This record gives sequence, C-alpha cells and structure tokens, in this order.
Amino acid sequence: MVDQALFSSDRMDWGTPEAFYNRLDCEFAFTLDPCATAQNAKCARFYTPEIDGLGQPWPGTVFVNPPYGREIGDWVRKAYQEAQAGATVVMLIPARTDTAYWHDWIMRASEVRFVRGRLTFEGASNSAPFPSCVVVFRPGCEGPPTLGAMPAKDAPLFRVKETVDQKDNVTLNRGNGARPAGVPAGAWLEEKEINGCGPYRYWRWIEGGRRRAQYAGKAGQAKGKT
Ligand SMILES: C[S@@+](CC[C@H](N)C(=O)[O-])C[C@H]1O[C@@H](n2cnc3c(N)ncnc32)[C@H](O)[C@@H]1O
Repeated sequence: MVDQALFSSDRMDWGTPEAFYNRLDCEFAFTLDPCATAQNAKCARFYTPEIDGLGQPWPGTVFVNPPYGREIGDWVRKAYQEAQAGATVVMLIPARTDTAYWHDWIMRASEVRFVRGRLTFEGASNSAPFPSCVVVFRPGCEGPPTLGAMPAKDAPLFRVKETVDQKDNVTLNRGNGARPAGVPAGAWLEEKEINGCGPYRYWRWIEGGRRRAQYAGKAGQAKGKT
C-alpha cells in the first residue's frame, strides 16, 4: 500500500537530498543538525525528538530541516534567536511567504536563496508539492534578507576551512591591533579555499542588515596575518 503521507504536504520528515546538503555543507561546514533521528542526521552532532532540539542550545554552524508541521514557526524563531546568540543557522524550509513565521522571523534573516523547481526529498519518489528555499541567519542579523537563488548544480564549490568564533576573534584581533581600518568591531575572519587555491582570508561583518566583506590576503602572508 502506498503511504499517502509521502506525497502530501502533511508529511513532517522530508529528508534533505544528499547532493543538495553537500553543496551547502561545502560552503558552511556544518557542525550541528538539531532536527534529526540517529538514522537521518546530517552531522555527527545532532538532536532527536527525545532530546528536543528546540529546547537545546545551537552552538556553531547549524543546518536545520525542521518538521514541516504547525510548529515550523517555533523552529524559525529559534534559528533567529540562536543567530542573535552567535550561531550561523541555515534552514531548508517551504517558501511560504504569506505565513506569520516568514514575516516575523525570516524578514530578519541575512539571506533567502530560492530553489528553482521542486526538490525531491530523500526517500520520496515524487517532487515535493511545495516550493523550497534556504534561509541563512548569520550572527546578529536583523534583516531584511538579501534575495538570491541556489547556485546552479555545476557552479564552483568552495569550502570554509575554518570559521573563527566571532566573539573570541574580535578579542584576539583587538588585542594585537590587526583589524584593519574600515573593518568594524564585531567583524570575524573566514578562511576559504577556492577551487583548490588559497586558503584566502576574508573579514566579514553585518552592516545595516547587509553582509559586508573585505579581503584579508592569503593565509600566512603579511596581509592576512592576524
Ligand atoms: C524534515 S526531517 C529532517 C531530517 C534530517 N535532519 C535531514 O535534514 O534530512 C525533521 C526531523 O526532525 C525530527 N524532529 C521532530 N521534532 C523534533 C524535536 N523536537 N527535536 C529534534 N528533532 C525533531 C524528526 O524526527 C525528523 O527526523
């Protein structure tokens, strides 16, 4: 017998397609999946319904594909709150722009990336009956989010090698005076390898709700030394 829930929008456990997740993981290097079971967790560190991921802290770089029931708004609010506490939270959710959660919380995110077409979720044989988007909450974000599209499947990948903890890094860089003019307190450093070259360093910060970046040189070279 066919499980009708698999093909209806009532289903709660839409597994993230592996290739879709890998593309995001290449960019963000996730450290926590707070919506999972031991069978479908995307990260080595995860929370299950028994532990209740909604009631736990979300440190680090978090990937969230929440249960798509009425409680989805609670997960989106939690993502915003954890970003205020210093996390980077990336969510895969239905692109329902008329909902209260969209207006209350997603309008305060850093970025919305719309998915072209419909995703075929893990374990489903048909594409989803709803459009999807990826929402990025960066530390301290207040929106409005920048709008974009998920990159084409053959777009070059780049991997975040290391995202330095924002608060520690600010202290460190204030301490040795290495934060250059024009880069405000609260900025953090990211180190990336791009197409096998680098790693390159970038100062990143949020200004007026928008992401800003300044190239800080190749790691190990004078410009990038901190
Ligand atoms: C949409 S699925 C995502 C599964 C997987 N993380 C992925 O991305 O493919 C949502 C998962 O959240 C789990 N879940 C539901 N309520 C939860 C809670 N309070 N705390 C943690 N996980 C929960 C469900 O069991 C389900 O496995």
